[in-house]
Amino acid sequence: MIDNKSNLYEQLQARDQLHVLEYWDELSEDEQASLLAQLESIDFALLDTFLELCQQDDAVDQNISPCTSKARCECKHHLAVGEEIIKRGELGVLTVAGGDGTRLGWSGPKGTYPATPLSGKSLFQLIAEQILYAQRRYGVTIPWYIMTSVSNSELTKSFLLDNNCFGLDRTDIFVFEQRQVPTLDEHGKLILQTKSSIVTNPDGHGGMISGLQQSGALAEIEGRGIEHLSYVQVDNPLARVVDPIFLAMHATDEVSSQEVSSKCVMKTNASERVGVFCLKDGRATIQEYSDLTEEQAASTTDGALTFGAGSIAIHMFNRAFLEQIATSLPWHKAIKKVQSVSGECAAMKFETFVFDVLPMAKQSLVVEVKREDEFAPIKNADGEDSPASSKQLQASRSKRWLMEAGLDIEDGAEVELSPLTGASPSDLELSEIPNLIQSGQQLVV
Ligand code: UD1
Repeated sequence: MIDNKSNLYEQLQARDQLHVLEYWDELSEDEQASLLAQLESIDFALLDTFLELCQQDDAVDQNISPCTSKARCECKHHLAVGEEIIKRGELGVLTVAGGDGTRLGWSGPKGTYPATPLSGKSLFQLIAEQILYAQRRYGVTIPWYIMTSVSNSELTKSFLLDNNCFGLDRTDIFVFEQRQVPTLDEHGKLILQTKSSIVTNPDGHGGMISGLQQSGALAEIEGRGIEHLSYVQVDNPLARVVDPIFLAMHATDEVSSQEVSSKCVMKTNASERVGVFCLKDGRATIQEYSDLTEEQAASTTDGALTFGAGSIAIHMFNRAFLEQIATSLPWHKAIKKVQSVSGECAAMKFETFVFDVLPMAKQSLVVEVKREDEFAPIKNADGEDSPASSKQLQASRSKRWLMEAGLDIEDGAEVELSPLTGASPSDLELSEIPNLIQSGQQLVV
């Protein structure tokens, strides 16, 4: 039996959590060792925070007001400024890919999901190719930092290696793991997943801050002279991973503090499941859709949604700003179903959100972009924000950009634009592509 005088035993006992040892005597030595290691890794101070949160009702913040945004400025000046920063080697890319992707029903890491309409390129490949294109165009290295979690870290690394990192140098890709935290049942008890393990969950994408700091990635970023990090979620195939205009707006805006900038699109309807930009205590932040009251979501001003600026989860972070964030982020509680040793049960997952760093900036900039150019997320297996809806949006952007660049595309033709061909209509490299794509043709260009 586990020593009942040990510190661990006492910590569990003090919180009425000894049930996790219920099967101890049935376990093999190896299983005992593994359960012990997992229990010893629990941060009991953090568990106390969770236990307190279990007792609290989720208070929805009513004190929010709308915040202003600036339109993406498509001018030559911004393009030149942004390109200069990239050419100096000051940009890195940050991708959060630690989520479980349960809603999509894909068993591997979400980044391995075949996302594009014709060639089935994975979400990771789309990001990698955008980086590769920018590296070639600007003659620099743009390192890529990917946050994974314990359940998908090894699979992510092997997927990248098996695919030769999609042409990127493997030494320019840095995979770091976010932390796991205990999941609790509805009574605030740790949950046995098996007789020798407890249920845990990744600590939310806010775990990126400590993940970057503790893995040494942030020091690596500084060592490389990176000043700005382009942050994208893995689930949006239209995310512009290297966007010189957004970078220039972030780095030169006279009002913002250049610590963090974000992109928004106008919500299509009151119930669209995106966080919204707003002001709390005078500072720009994001209120998650699940924390917005129905009244707030539906409220209108001059015929438009009052909280209509939806977050597409794209940010530009200043490196020094990320280094300075010492305060821990607030925890958000979500009720989910999990598998336990005795079947499915309702559970409380605690997560931190990266956008909770926004109010820590003195001022932050919100840039409004065109939804059809930058947002086609893959979240659900079908319906809204599904592979089918995303593929349709990807196909129509490909077509629009190619036609804007001068190509003739007949109705009924299907095209997929590769990130290696260009990052915007003005820089598409079309010399190898036929001028006319005919109805019935399917072409990846
Ligand atoms: C998210 C945003 C929402 C935004 C929308 C845009 C949150 C809480 N909400 O919603 O405001 O409008 O995207 O598409 O983020 N992830 C991790 N580790 C974790 C949890 C998530 O890396 O512990 C990653 C996922 O791999 C994914 C991203 O974070 O890339 C988004 O997570 P998800 O929980 O799916 O957020 P959404 O509900 O889609």
